[in-house]
Amino acid sequence: MTIEPPTSFTLVTLLLLILNSPLGVLSGADQYSKSDFPADFVFGSGTSAYQVEGAAYEDGRTASIWDTFAHAGYAHGENGDVACDGYHKYKEDVQLMVETGLDAYRFSISWSRLIPNGRGPINPKGLDYYNNLINELISNGIQPHVTLHNFDLPQALEDEYEGWLSRDVVRDFTEYADVCFREFGDRVFYWTTVNEPNVFALGGYDQGNAPPQRCSPPFCAITNNTRGNSTFESYLAVHHILLAHSSAVRLYRTKYRDQQHGFVGISVYTFGIIPQTNKEEDVVATQRARDFFVGWIMEPLLYGDYPISMKKNVGARIPTFTNWESKQVKGSYDFIGVIHYMNINVSDNYGALNIKLRDFHADMAVNLIYNQDLFSNTEYSVTPWGLQLELNKFKLLYGNPPIFILENGQRTASNSSLLDFSRVKYFHGYIGAVLDALRNGSNVKGYFAWSFMDVFELLDGYRASYGLYYVDHNDPELKRYPKLSAKWYKWFLMGRTSSIELVENEKDPSLVSDLGHLFE
Ligand SMILES: *[C@@H]1O[C@H](CO)[C@@H](O)[C@H](O)[C@H]1NC(C)=O
Ligand SMILES: *[C@@H]1O[C@H](CO)[C@@H](O)[C@H](O)[C@H]1NC(C)=O
Ligand SMILES: *[C@@H]1O[C@H](CO)[C@@H](O)[C@H](O)[C@H]1NC(C)=O
Ligand SMILES: *[C@@H]1O[C@H](CO)[C@@H](O)[C@H](O)[C@H]1NC(C)=O
Ligand SMILES: *[C@@H]1O[C@H](CO)[C@@H](O)[C@H](O)[C@H]1NC(C)=O
Repeated sequence: MTIEPPTSFTLVTLLLLILNSPLGVLSGADQYSKSDFPADFVFGSGTSAYQVEGAAYEDGRTASIWDTFAHAGYAHGENGDVACDGYHKYKEDVQLMVETGLDAYRFSISWSRLIPNGRGPINPKGLDYYNNLINELISNGIQPHVTLHNFDLPQALEDEYEGWLSRDVVRDFTEYADVCFREFGDRVFYWTTVNEPNVFALGGYDQGNAPPQRCSPPFCAITNNTRGNSTFESYLAVHHILLAHSSAVRLYRTKYRDQQHGFVGISVYTFGIIPQTNKEEDVVATQRARDFFVGWIMEPLLYGDYPISMKKNVGARIPTFTNWESKQVKGSYDFIGVIHYMNINVSDNYGALNIKLRDFHADMAVNLIYNQDLFSNTEYSVTPWGLQLELNKFKLLYGNPPIFILENGQRTASNSSLLDFSRVKYFHGYIGAVLDALRNGSNVKGYFAWSFMDVFELLDGYRASYGLYYVDHNDPELKRYPKLSAKWYKWFLMGRTSSIELVENEKDPSLVSDLGHLFE
């Protein structure tokens, strides 16, 4: 591996690097550069519609289930009405992407901006906005990666037939996808149908802590004052998502692929799933947890059916695929989007199966032991080997599909320093883990840092942030400022050797000198 010392690379730093390295050589994914990745590997960053666009009531957009959730107060009373005003600032933001050196930008389309009633007439202003954004990206050499559904089903369809709980959604989602493929598919080659259906279904239909906020006691996480039934709705929602996804893929393959030559996938949220002890029952429980979290989506895509452990523990509450549906779902992906932030420990809890009314977690029959608080703005541990472990599982258990890491990033309080060393450390570690996985035979095609800027987060609102760019919400202009992580990512994308020690020791003045200390 070639090492190109930056000008300020000091002997002390070099010695530190050598001492820190187990074999006394610069090896593995501590010290690497972009040129260690395949030439066509894509580095990008992402946001999603409701989190960044704002203009929630402008130019014909109607509410989605996420608007409703936020306005009910579940994100500290904050909402995406204005967000980062990306709807008006997209040109400026694309320039920041150019400045950062991104190959690609991942964003999502707001279904209720494009088709305000969920089906039927297209909103011409919505069409213009996405055409403009896509054209702006392409004319600046940035590849668009588009997600169709990111927690934001049109509220009109939720009201009409309870959204993802109804089979009607398969027809309406397919028509929405048809509009997107037809209108944008000449310029968009990467489509993700539904963002992390596993987390969407658990939050939205089991625990009730995400839109559309359905659950039933005693399984509700934040309020019992709700509709829903946690014993089966999350299974039903995922079933309809898989049918809608595969129907959109079928449509793309029959009607668009020959002319447009694009790729359609779906994304899955993954933890690094670790047994709490090496006792046999914990190791078995860990695989069961992986079946429930990941196999729930991946096994239907690979084999046309749910994992055996799920069918056994859930029984009649998990829907059955007909032969025809099973055939349509099987193989309905060109790539898998992986979303990963942290590890989780698992121990066996087979006793949970004795509970009469069970939800997903009871059916899984494990204890989940989190290594960090999920719902606060504390920073994540940097444990990149967890991502490596999961990529290895995709290789061994799920057919080694082409993978884009669609989200991975560090959470900090949004009012902490622009010198976000912990985020740099996080990206450095996880991108290195992707490199190690690639070298060990994983089929990873790209990496998207979450998030391009500080956006409206599902539960944290604007209090927690993941952005490469800070957005000053006290400024009416919502000015963006690069954090240290943006500079580091740029430095890496320019082809410089990635060295965490240089950043930590502030040895490279070009990285830190021109950053304002906004909060001091
Ligand atoms: C909901 O009700 C259950 C009892 O059925 C109770 O244990 C739980 O604490 C309640 N949850 C909330 C969020 O109020
Ligand atoms: C939820 O559905 C189960 C059947 O799986 C039923 O026994 C239970 O009464 C339902 N609970 C509620 C709150 O409707
Ligand atoms: C998770 O498990 C590992 C060993 O498998 C252990 O070192 C770690 O302390 C555990 N974390 C928690 C929060 O228990
Ligand atoms: C940041 O915000 C939190 C509340 O979210 C507050 O407790 C803390 O004092 C703030 N820190 C600074 C440096 O403003
Ligand atoms: C590399 O892959 C092999 C199997 O293909 C696996 O056994 C091994 O644990 C992997 N190594 C790492 C570091 O992920």
